[in-house]
Formats: sequence, C-alpha cells, structure tokens
Amino acid sequence: MEESKRKTAVVSKTEMEKQREYCEKAASVISKRYQKKPLACVVTYGCQQNVADSEHIKGMLSQIGYSFTEERTEAKLIIFNTCAVREHAEDRVFGNVGMLKSYKRENPDVIIACCGCMMQQQHIADKIRQSFPFVDLVFGTHVVYRLPELLYSTLTRKKRVFELPDMDGAIAEGVPVLRDNDKKAWIPIMYGCNNFCSYCIVPYVRGRERSREAADVIAEAKELIESGYKEITLLGQNVNSYGKDLAPRVSFAQLLKSIAELDGDFRIRFMTSHPKDCTKELIETMAGCEKIAKHLHLPFQSGNDRVLKAMNRHYDRAKYLELIHYAKELMGDALSITSDVIVGFPGETYEEFRDTLSLVSEVKFTSLFTFIYSPRKGTPAAEMPDPVSAEEKGRWFKELTDLQETISAENMKKNAGRLFKCFVYGKGKLGDNYIAARTDGNLIIEFEGDENLIGTFQKIKVTEPLTYVLKGEMERNQL
Ligand code: SAH
Ligand code: SF4
Ligand code: F3S
Repeated sequence: MEESKRKTAVVSKTEMEKQREYCEKAASVISKRYQKKPLACVVTYGCQQNVADSEHIKGMLSQIGYSFTEERTEAKLIIFNTCAVREHAEDRVFGNVGMLKSYKRENPDVIIACCGCMMQQQHIADKIRQSFPFVDLVFGTHVVYRLPELLYSTLTRKKRVFELPDMDGAIAEGVPVLRDNDKKAWIPIMYGCNNFCSYCIVPYVRGRERSREAADVIAEAKELIESGYKEITLLGQNVNSYGKDLAPRVSFAQLLKSIAELDGDFRIRFMTSHPKDCTKELIETMAGCEKIAKHLHLPFQSGNDRVLKAMNRHYDRAKYLELIHYAKELMGDALSITSDVIVGFPGETYEEFRDTLSLVSEVKFTSLFTFIYSPRKGTPAAEMPDPVSAEEKGRWFKELTDLQETISAENMKKNAGRLFKCFVYGKGKLGDNYIAARTDGNLIIEFEGDENLIGTFQKIKVTEPLTYVLKGEMERNQL
C-alpha cells in the first residue's frame, strides 16, 4: 500500500508496533495481579460503528489476557462504549455508570472506563471528571487503537487517565478484533462524517470522513468469507461517499462489486446510504450482483423540502422518491427498503409533518426507525426556535408509528406465496421442529426443517404471513 499518496492520515506501522508492545506490558501486569484470567465487560450503546469498535476493544483486551462477561459485577474491567446521538442515549449511560459507584467502592481494584462518541464532547468529559470520580479511564473515538497503552497507564499509575484528542481522526489497520458472531461480521469501510446535518452530533464526535484502502477492505472480507462468515455488512455514516479521499479514487459501487466477485456463498450488506450521494450506479450494482442483499437503508429524515433544507440534507423529496422508484423498478418485490425519520425538527409545522406521513404512505417501507428530535449541544439546530411542545410532538410521533404499523402489516400480507433466498440462522419459535431464517430485508421466516441447515442459505416460500413472522416451506427444488 502506498501510504504516501493518501490524503488521509494512516496510523504508522511504528505506532501500531508500539501498541503491540503495550499489550505485552499490560498482559504482564494483569498476570501478576490476578491468579486467573480477569473478566472484562464491554457495554455498547449506539450504532453498528460502535459495535464494530467494541469488537476491536475486545480484540485488544483478549490479547492482553482478559476473558469476557455480560455481568458487570463479575468484571475487573468495565468499559462503556457510548453514543451521543440523542439525549436519551446519554441519560442511560449516566444512569448505568452511576450505578457502579458502590461496586467500585467495595472493589477498588476494578477499572471503570468510558469511551465512544459521548466522551468526545467537552461538557460530558467535564461532567465525568467532576461528578463520576470513580471512572478511571476516559478515551475518545480517535484513540481506540491506543487502548493497550491507555490501559497500561491506568493499571500502573495512581492517576485517572483522560485521553480525548480533538482531531480529524486517522485510520488504524491491524487492530486485533474479537467478533461477537461467527457468521455475521461488520467491516467499517470508512470513519467520520462531513455532512453536518444541522441536528446531528456525529461529525463533531467522529471527525472528518476517511476511507480505508479498498485493498484492506477486500482482504478483510476475503479472510472472513474463507473462515466461514456468511453475512458481511460494510459500515460507514455515508457509504456512498466512500473513496473520495483515496488516490486513485474508488467508488462505493466499485468496492461492492470487487467484494461480490470474491468466491464463496455469502451475502453483503451496507449501511448507511445518504440520498444526496446515492447513485443510480449503486442501485444498478445492487440489482446486478446476486451476493448483494436486496436491502436499501436510505434515511429520508423528513418528507418536506423546507425541513430538509433546514436539516442541511442536500436533496429534496423528489430526488429521494426518484431513487426509491428506480430501485423498485430494478429490484421489484425482492427489494426491502428501510429508513430513518425525525419528528419535530425545530420549526416543523403539522402541515410539514404531513409530508412525512405522505412520503411514508407512498414508499411503504419494510420498517422505519422513528425518532423524536433531540437537541444536541453545539449543533445549528439546537439554536433554532422550537415552539412545538413535547406533547404535541409525541402525538405526531404516534400518528407516524401507527401509520407505519398498518403499512408493515399490509406488507407482511403481500409476502404470501413469495419466494425468498434466506439465511438460516437458528431454531424457530413456532414449534419444536421449526427453524428460522432471515430474508435480505430482515424478515423472519420459520419453516419445518433440519437443524443442520443452520448456517446455510436456502430458498424458502412463504405459506402464511403471521403478525411479526412469516411461516414458510423450503423449496425442494433449490435454484
Ligand atoms: N449517517 C446516518 C445516520 C446516523 S445517526 C445518515 O445520515 O443517515 C442515525 C439516525 O439518528 C439518523 O438517521 C437520524 O434519523 C437520527 N438522529 C440523528 N441525530 C438526531 C437528533 N439530534 N435527534 C433525533 N434523531 C437524530
Ligand atoms: Fe449525522 Fe448527517 Fe452525518 Fe448521518 S450524514 S451522521 S445524520 S451528519
Ligand atoms: Fe451514536 Fe456515535 Fe453511532 S453518536 S449513532 S455511536 S457514530
């Protein structure tokens, strides 16, 4: 890889080597301190990007010599990997960290750490510093790869460690990873965000957009497929702008194609697509590659053009619908479309909100992630007048979720008789001899079948749509 041509900073090999040495130093400290392998508990909030970061955190901890537990009160090290996207997410973190105060008093050797997007905000780090003195280690989103060094400092010094550089961020290759699942894997293909949607904190806490080299992503995908992974999800806040910082440039569609061309029986997913950068080329690539899941997660946020402009989204309703219609035209019933939407953006009127309702009625999403607007300190929207009461927004929210429920139920019924290529992932709940499979669009189909089908792809025909699950049967004549 020619690092010199990159516009993006890549963490040097020397630095990564240094971290490997810190792993060994920390390992030696903990093997002296504990008779048996100590347990670590990593608690993850937020999006898949955080889930992927936590898998790297666990990879590093595993090299240092930790095993893992879900039980906080069994752990010698507890790490909260936090999310800042809405106030509710932050409140939960404060509540959960606060609950460890007495545990820490009774077990002073336990290390409590906080990392992730929340910590990257000055006012939150200050609050942890002042009001949560039992938190030993705080580190930001740009220094996850330095955990071995930071943990070593925490283990050996008597002082609390805060490492929160505010920077654009760099890419660290070769960080160890311990994945949560042996069939489904996340691959971050880029980090950060440049879009500055007016309500969103992500660009402030995750830094500028930077893409991993295509060769690194493809090599990771290849290795996963060769070791039996069946579902690979490519991650980024806006995957459609992948590769703009690479020299030579590589488009997201090209990256997808290269992975889809790898040998093996697997499926590729990706998220999130931003409508402003979503191209027809991408939709054509999805339609043309069997190995790409026919699932498009395309957040629209609002169905009203004035609100979209105030959100700084850089597309309008017509452009969004054009993309959706094109995707439906190419992929038909096989396509599942999901989205994110915000209710009660500052200044949004009921009339404008009705445009969101009408867009939802028109597109008929498979499922919808609905959020009530939450002001984020430091973002432009937090300064905008916001006259609509929380109760009123709550009523709009309910109207939207009721509408989506009706649509989801109608969509479910339409599945009767359809044939889906599904990944069989585990035992079913409808009866003893049922096993469960997932369609590209994350619908669950249960069917009578042998447990040794688990971990394979099968064609399943829907026989009866129930409320949340579909009943089906396996096609004897697999295509
Ligand atoms: N990068 C992705 C979204 C990441 S955040 C994209 O642009 O599509 C996930 C979702 O959280 C967003 O799509 C948005 O719907 C919601 N969200 C972000 N900031 C929010 C806020 N301040 N209040 C409420 N919802 C918010
Ligand atoms: Fe936030 Fe917008 Fe970036 Fe998504 S694209 S992470 S909503 S700023
Ligand atoms: Fe939350 Fe950070 Fe993801 S703010 S949504 S965890 S990028």
